[in-house]
Amino acid sequence: MSLHADHADLATMAEVNPYLLGGFAPTPDELTLTDLDVVGEIPADLNGVYVRNGPNPQFEPKGRYHWFDGDGMVHAVHIADGKAVYRNRWIRTDGFRRERSAGGVLWRGIMEPWQDNPPGEAEKDTANTDVIFHNERLLALWYRAGKPYALDPVTLEDLGPEDFDGTLRSEVSAHAKVDDRTGELFFFDYGVKPPYMRYGVVSPAGAIKHFVGIDLPGPRLPHDMAITERYSILMDLPLVNDPRAAAVGRYKLHFEREMPSRFGVIPRYGTAADVRWFEAEPCFIYHSVNAWEEGDEIVMDVCRVKRPEPRSDLDGPLAQMLAYLRLDAHMQRYRFNLRTGRTTEHPVDDDNSEFPSIDQRLVGRRSRYAYTMHISPESELLFDGLMKYDVNSGVAETYWFGAGRWGSEAPFAPRAGATGEDDGYLVSYVYDEREGRSEVEVLNAADVSAGPLCRIKLPVRVPIGFHATWVPGERLPGGSA
Ligand SMILES: [Fe+2]
Repeated sequence: MSLHADHADLATMAEVNPYLLGGFAPTPDELTLTDLDVVGEIPADLNGVYVRNGPNPQFEPKGRYHWFDGDGMVHAVHIADGKAVYRNRWIRTDGFRRERSAGGVLWRGIMEPWQDNPPGEAEKDTANTDVIFHNERLLALWYRAGKPYALDPVTLEDLGPEDFDGTLRSEVSAHAKVDDRTGELFFFDYGVKPPYMRYGVVSPAGAIKHFVGIDLPGPRLPHDMAITERYSILMDLPLVNDPRAAAVGRYKLHFEREMPSRFGVIPRYGTAADVRWFEAEPCFIYHSVNAWEEGDEIVMDVCRVKRPEPRSDLDGPLAQMLAYLRLDAHMQRYRFNLRTGRTTEHPVDDDNSEFPSIDQRLVGRRSRYAYTMHISPESELLFDGLMKYDVNSGVAETYWFGAGRWGSEAPFAPRAGATGEDDGYLVSYVYDEREGRSEVEVLNAADVSAGPLCRIKLPVRVPIGFHATWVPGERLPGGSA
């Protein structure tokens, strides 16, 4: 049964689950919308595609729905010649296709027992978490590590699972990094069996050129990595999985307060034996901001969660889920000294913000600006402002979206012919809960607090979601915007 075929069912589900309601409610439609109303003017030197991934269940869930369970859907806005076209498409994962054929769900979500799920597939790979651009295609990626799914960056046409020319021997986790200068793609995956993590490098033409196992002491839930010009940084953080859950391919996490955080620095094409581990205070990290080399040191900025324990002040049937959906992070700088083996760390700022982005041309190289989403005090999953950090000083300026208006991860889009690091735009979906619709806001990255240069009005709502990227027009297949 479709989620939207029966409004009584939808109402019942929404009543018990806030992640099927309001701004989080899934959309049943796949649309291509042109002739959009624009307030202000789309900058003539903004050309490319803004695309964001997120969960959007195709069918009514069985049992308790967790926000992370929903089938991946990408929402893209192609901007060229002062005009915009919006498209949204489900990602045609294996699970999506099989459930579509069956006419209903085959998997229960991560809040439910797995025994009735397809044998050997404890969780459905939804590809719903991040979307990156590599080798002329978008790749939709999943936080639990799954198959990358390729899409055309303009039409969002399904290009099938990406196996990197038959060379992929693992899964790929959500946050893989592209080195803009070399065109290489760096990734890791993780799992419940030794060595618990694997690391790989994909060539610019899309074939794996390096792949090694990384020995961790046990099953973990790493979410992100970082790169510099010569190294990759992998994370072993003390959010550990229960061995009994791991044995069946599932996750039941707890935070080991006494266990250090460990950061593995591996030469870009290094072996497992080359990894140097740096210890730091216990924490969890969803997202790195950027990393680079400075003399003997590797500098890495992250959004650090100091206390990843679940909240204990919630009750009701969904308390466990809500307790773990907690973003309480601040920007932190680490320095790993390759000569002395010493780690130092300090907060860049103490404000609660997450979903960082930078100028993608500077991934792995020294950068000054980071753009993050300010976490609303009303809800830890809603973004009430867009922040621009000077990471050297920790000073930030913020654009507030306004009451009842919530933003999405806002990638940096360089202006055509850009000369400086912040010479360009920030692009974000903003959902207005009073209007029940979304718009695309374009800000001047050099003057964030001034607010949007233009607002591209959508006649529809873009559900609250996860990660986004910007694909510059000159990188699109065909080479033009
Ligand atoms: Fe993420």
